[in-house]
Amino acid sequence: MATKNLVPISSPRPPDFSTTTGKHPKFSTFSPRRKPSSISLATSSPESSPEILEKPEIELEFIGPKAGADGKFPVEKAKAISGAKLLRNIMLDNKIELYATYGKLMNCGGGGSCGTCIVEIVDGKDLLSERTNTEFRYLKKKPESWRLACQTIVGNKENSGKVVVQRLPQWRK
Ligand code: FES
Repeated sequence: MATKNLVPISSPRPPDFSTTTGKHPKFSTFSPRRKPSSISLATSSPESSPEILEKPEIELEFIGPKAGADGKFPVEKAKAISGAKLLRNIMLDNKIELYATYGKLMNCGGGGSCGTCIVEIVDGKDLLSERTNTEFRYLKKKPESWRLACQTIVGNKENSGKVVVQRLPQWRK
């Protein structure tokens, strides 16, 4: 019977957890690299921060269609960033009455299909967008100073100044 030389298999060397610093070996523990608890995003310095540019504004005055008991026409005021909004939206946002009775009930919501959002530009028409084809259609026989508020952009993003608007010009005779 043949005999085999059995060689003891040496066990793989255990991992060395000891440290070399102390007399007694210490086991080290695995600690995943910690993420910083907060990341600072403050990278700008006064020199590198962009200047906060003021956007040009348009001042608006809205003259009411009927004089009060004192004989004066009421005036409401609003401001808008140039080129940012339609005249209709500025009026609605500032709770300035735009529509007459029929328009209040039946307006098209600014879609340019009812012709009820008429205003007259008394001053500052150059600060507004040009008349649209919709306006040419609805205001064909009306004074040139009349506009549809839902088609009129106030300002061109660069200009500033004052626009005076007559509300409900069809009521003023
Ligand atoms: S809201 Fe209808 S045309 Fe202006």
